[in-house]
Amino acid sequence: MTKLDAITEDTEIEEKRQQMYAALRALDAFGFWTIQGDMEPREPRVREVPHVWRWKDFEEHVMLAGEIVPHELADRRGIILHNPGLDMTKPATTNTQFVAYSVYMPGEVFHPHIHSPAASRMLLKSDGKGYTTVEGEKAYLERGDLITTPSGTWHDHGNEGDVPMVWVDMLDIPVAMLFNAGKFGFDYTENGVAREMQSPTRSQLYSQRHFAVGGVRPRFAEQVIGNDNGSPQLHFKYADTRRALNAVRDEAGDPYDGVIVDYVNIMDGGPIQRTQNFSMQLLRPGEHTLSHRDTSSSVYVVIEGSGSTIINGREYKWEEDDIFCVPTYMWHEHVNASNTEDAVIYCVSDAPAVKKLGLYWEDRKDSQGNVTTIGKAIPA
Ligand SMILES: [Fe+2]
Ligand SMILES: [Fe+2]
Repeated sequence: MTKLDAITEDTEIEEKRQQMYAALRALDAFGFWTIQGDMEPREPRVREVPHVWRWKDFEEHVMLAGEIVPHELADRRGIILHNPGLDMTKPATTNTQFVAYSVYMPGEVFHPHIHSPAASRMLLKSDGKGYTTVEGEKAYLERGDLITTPSGTWHDHGNEGDVPMVWVDMLDIPVAMLFNAGKFGFDYTENGVAREMQSPTRSQLYSQRHFAVGGVRPRFAEQVIGNDNGSPQLHFKYADTRRALNAVRDEAGDPYDGVIVDYVNIMDGGPIQRTQNFSMQLLRPGEHTLSHRDTSSSVYVVIEGSGSTIINGREYKWEEDDIFCVPTYMWHEHVNASNTEDAVIYCVSDAPAVKKLGLYWEDRKDSQGNVTTIGKAIPA
């Protein structure tokens, strides 16, 4: 008999304990020790599961939504990707991100709105005439372009082209909701007059021309956007990002992520949004990275090529325009399936928020399977 068994077998005392528990519940309180097992997991407890949302499964539904779900019915026509490990009490893609395929049909204009959560778009399909206007910067988007919508910025979307525009939205809505700080606004005015779209206040390609050259920036550039939620550069052209990858492709690269570049805030070198890190990674032909895990979660969009990611020992295959997630603290390694073509995957993680809160650590496996912890190791 253990000491605990001896304690609980004293029926008279146990009865008194139960009476006290009931009295505490009536007082809206409880003994910590009664739920301690739930509150002190030996390993991070993760409800989300790894998953691939395949574009070939979604394409017909996304295009059909463009035809049968009018603007009046859907203020934004996003099809949210729901993690199969979560129920509808938490309708999200990961613990910290809301991710969606969205479609804008030729000629459509979606009216301005503003919100506290931070958002971003990764452009998949357009003829270069689909746009979003963020705080006066009207950005026409091409495949692989990233544009952020920092917290507290007005934005409206539209398509002046001849083909549907499809992009991937990635927002930190679950983070805003965790802090009970989600707030949205829809009544946009200019000089006191309601407007259905923003008048551009920044010149064409303002972001790229002012901030996209590393190492220098114009002293007169506008440096604070919205709630000062990160980078003053909003629009990042894929051609620039791809050039940056190509420039270092013959280096050894990162053993866990291949040739990877982070999008950075030119003002401080940090991530471009407070809660999300954005990166683009090139997996060279035949490349197979080593495995690591950390206490952030990530969502990936496949921009070029095909391959797979092995997550906690199981292979998840992906190809262009697929979206997949690596939930918190899951071992993962990436594989380019081709021996001749590059694969390029775009990643948005919640690492900046996790690091700021002091909750980040990482475990790395070397090629022999030996594990090293980066950060404060906590023995189980
Ligand atoms: Fe929005
Ligand atoms: Fe990774």
